[in-house]
Amino acid sequence: MSVNKEVKKVTTNTLQKMKASGEKIAMLTAYDFSFAKIIDGAGIDVILVGDSASNVMAGHETTVPITLEQMIYHAQCVIRGINRCLVVVDLPFGTYQSNSDVALASAIRIMKETGGHSIKMEGGEEILDSVKKIVSAGIPVMGHLGLTPQSIYKFGTYTVRAKEEEEAEKLRKDALLLQEAGCFAIVLEKIPADLAKQVSESLHIPTIGIGAGSDCDGQVLVMHDMLGINTEFKPRFLRQYLNIHDQATQAVEQYVNDVKSKDFPNEKEQY
Ligand code: KIV
Repeated sequence: MSVNKEVKKVTTNTLQKMKASGEKIAMLTAYDFSFAKIIDGAGIDVILVGDSASNVMAGHETTVPITLEQMIYHAQCVIRGINRCLVVVDLPFGTYQSNSDVALASAIRIMKETGGHSIKMEGGEEILDSVKKIVSAGIPVMGHLGLTPQSIYKFGTYTVRAKEEEEAEKLRKDALLLQEAGCFAIVLEKIPADLAKQVSESLHIPTIGIGAGSDCDGQVLVMHDMLGINTEFKPRFLRQYLNIHDQATQAVEQYVNDVKSKDFPNEKEQY
């Protein structure tokens, strides 16, 4: 199935209808105007302005350092590039964990200053008050369970989560709590495919998987990974569609040669 051209603007209602009709939701991250324009033009349903910007744009090892101001900047750039898709903006680490008033203030800043359509937060029961408060203020919230990179220092590794029954049971419970709290969708990151299937079937809101198998209602990848801009990260779940790293390297090497050999610019490339 290709892009649904009937849908002029993707909203949270559109995603709900897609789950009901069995149409899979395609989501990718983006952090700047030019790529957002390409991705939106190619028919993506949802762009996530992910806090993975901390890794792929800023070069940090984790998502922990990125600030609210930096996320706002990335989201503003993305919004200028899109026309059709729904834009979700990550609330970065430290802007919602302390209490629900702080969380609401952070979410309001994102909505007012970026023009984004919704926000995403990591965690289950522990962030429920904040989710409820933000949803009550009219801001759509996407949940995020399983591997939650903002808590990397608590878990210590990026390995598959919820393999043991105790953690799987907490995840099932958290997913239902997030749905009851009003989340419009939930990202399931790096959990066993069977568990993701059970969770997806138990919810009426869509699940978006990353390393969570084919039975989620949608899929998300980090743009830099799937386009092969960043080639060092090769988890099993990643499908790499291009190798921009190698193509860009070759192009730049060619340009350097052309400048050094005085081949560039030629007569037609000057005034
Ligand atoms: O920040 C991000 O890119 C994410 C995705 C991995 C879901 O949260």
